[in-house]
Amino acid sequence: MKVLITGGCGYIGSHTAVRLLESGEEVVIIDNLINSKIDVLDKIKEITGKNITFYQEDLCNLEELRKIFKKEKFDAVIHFAGLKAVGESVEIPLRYYQNNLVSTMNILSCMQEFNVLKLVFSSSATVYGSPKSLPILEDFPLSTTNPYGTTKLMIEQILTDVYKANNKLDITILRYFNPIGAHKSGLLGEDPNGIPNNLMPYIVKVATKQLPVLNIFGSDYDTIDGTGVRDYIHVMDLAEGHILALKNKKKGLKIYNLGTGKGTSVLELVNMFSKINNVKVNYKIVDRRPGDIASCYASSLKANKELGFTCKYTLEDMCKDSYNFVKKNSNL
Ligand code: NAD
Ligand code: UFG
Repeated sequence: MKVLITGGCGYIGSHTAVRLLESGEEVVIIDNLINSKIDVLDKIKEITGKNITFYQEDLCNLEELRKIFKKEKFDAVIHFAGLKAVGESVEIPLRYYQNNLVSTMNILSCMQEFNVLKLVFSSSATVYGSPKSLPILEDFPLSTTNPYGTTKLMIEQILTDVYKANNKLDITILRYFNPIGAHKSGLLGEDPNGIPNNLMPYIVKVATKQLPVLNIFGSDYDTIDGTGVRDYIHVMDLAEGHILALKNKKKGLKIYNLGTGKGTSVLELVNMFSKINNVKVNYKIVDRRPGDIASCYASSLKANKELGFTCKYTLEDMCKDSYNFVKKNSNL
């Protein structure tokens, strides 16, 4: 199968590219490198020993995208590309709507024009807003609290309408919970520009003394120790979920949560990271971060039943691999 990976130089896309190449598929990446670096391609090649065709292109450029679709004749598309910083999306919402919606509509119109039927789309647990109960099931009500989340919800709606108009399409929407960890080689991992927004990249920067202290946002939530609870999933398990989605025999429009089904608090994660890596992580408790919810974790029963999805990696692996990646990359 020849698979287009949009955003394949980014965090989740690069790990998925590795798994796809390892399972014998042909990979083409389109990325404009707005949030990633070109040397990721060499690293994917170093891990897999396989070549990738790469186009440095903005998906919002429909004419260039059409040329690539015409030339490459894809069998399937995994669409990761998008802007993803929640805080930034509140500051510059138009940029988020423009980038995430236009790029997806361009992909869909090229798929239509060149008769590509199979699509896997990166959605997010953010579409559940503040869930009414836990664990979160795929049919829970949907709502969002920021423009980034709204782009995901709007794209889910667009995909639903496009599928209604052409039920030959085979679309899988994957709602990710909180991906962390890195490839075990230490060659690929999460490498955000500037000060990280997300917890694990921040913990790693404090552990390596690039930042002085981790701010823990709130200790008065109704959770095991008062700090926020999330469902952390190893990025390699998440990558595997995409391989399963591509191979799924069930056709149509399908939606799956990809999480471990287990909640972990901020303090539990910090303590695990310190213990497993034998390193101190300075932290202080500060006010809650506006917009955060207390707890969020998946029911992954549907993905398990229909895709055969299971998580192989533990929280220990996630902490070890995240730290290993940063230690092996001296430029970080
Ligand atoms: P990332 O920023 O590391 O990767 C996204 C890639 O897309 C980057 O390489 C970026 O350069 C590229 N890109 C962005 N806009 C583009 C455009 N217009 N044209 C071409 N390339 C473009 O992000 P990630 O963590 O790998 O996330 C991948 C997808 O998963 C995103 O859609 C994100 O919203 C979604 N997601 C991520 C998380 C998470 O916590 N990482 C959680 C839920 C959902
Ligand atoms: N946290 C801190 N300090 C920090 C960063 C985070 O205490 O410096 C806490 C948060 O309050 C939260 C937990 O750590 O309780 C996780 O926060 P993240 O920012 O890592 O992740 P979120 O669950 O807030 O959101 C992430 C992505 C969203 C995505 C969501 C579900 O940023 O885009 O996971 O996939 F939608």
